[in-house]
Amino acid sequence: MTSALGKDLLGLEPLTSEQIQLVLDTAEPFKEISERAIKKVPALRGQTIVNLFFEASTRTRISFEFAEKRLSADTVNVASSGSSVQKGETLVDTARNLEAMRIDMVVIRHGASGAARFLADRIESNVINAGDGTHEHPTQGLLDLLTLRDHFGTLAGRRVCIVGDVLHSRVARSNIWGLKKMGAEVGVCGPRSLLPWAIGEFGVTVFSRVEEAIEWAEALNILRLQLERMTAGYIPSLREYNRVFGITRERLARAPRDVLILHPGPMNRGVEIDSDVADGPHSVILNQVTNGVAIRMAVLYLLAGGRPELAEAAKGGSER
Ligand code: CP
Repeated sequence: MTSALGKDLLGLEPLTSEQIQLVLDTAEPFKEISERAIKKVPALRGQTIVNLFFEASTRTRISFEFAEKRLSADTVNVASSGSSVQKGETLVDTARNLEAMRIDMVVIRHGASGAARFLADRIESNVINAGDGTHEHPTQGLLDLLTLRDHFGTLAGRRVCIVGDVLHSRVARSNIWGLKKMGAEVGVCGPRSLLPWAIGEFGVTVFSRVEEAIEWAEALNILRLQLERMTAGYIPSLREYNRVFGITRERLARAPRDVLILHPGPMNRGVEIDSDVADGPHSVILNQVTNGVAIRMAVLYLLAGGRPELAEAAKGGSER
């Protein structure tokens, strides 16, 4: 049976606005499950899910695992260290061997852009992209959209600026696709060396000065500098970056309105964001993390063939 999202979730670029809306709406009833004393419903009982994390992760890996367990799926976690990947086994061979043990879904994080698509084209299980290189991080994009919608009520017409290392950011790409499909206006701001060469083709407003971005935006999604992906000197120094592009309380104080603060994490406090902004009254950074579990529950439920109109009923059957 083909799900409302198709076989896989590889990015937000291929999704329609209706499919994005469906995930956001399906996540709503799932939010409440995490607030219960017994955080478990039987919606995915009997489903076996493998979490293949070949790159470091705290939020995404743990959030998927919570989402799977709260829906009563059976889960196995595989990291490259400690697996036969270290002995030279390919990604496809690893996944095919897992499929031979009769799995239903694979959640994959990988350092190579396109790794999730490569796998999805070669195995029958549903594949969910948990971040592939600099390509996309669709569940992060969806949880960012849900957090913005929670605050503003609607996404259409909202002005959201993505600030920082856009060049290396899969989160930025998923946000740009998702926000634009939902009718938001998108800005990007960062050093020219950290914006994609073809940024003009993304249909976004480019700000070279962070003060102008803050004046324009209703929300800032602040990105860390991905030093581990930088092959050259993209910025003079972290101190210089903070001085020119850092989001500080002083800069926000000059904004014509309160600006909502998002960050996908992990944060480098004192570099792209100051602590009093990260922990300040307009920060929804931890709301993003909370919403991540509901979004991942919704994606797992829909890909498993769960009917959106039954999501409310699916959360009714608590495991007691
Ligand atoms: N936002 C995000 O992807 O965080 P992790 O790398 O910790 O999963």
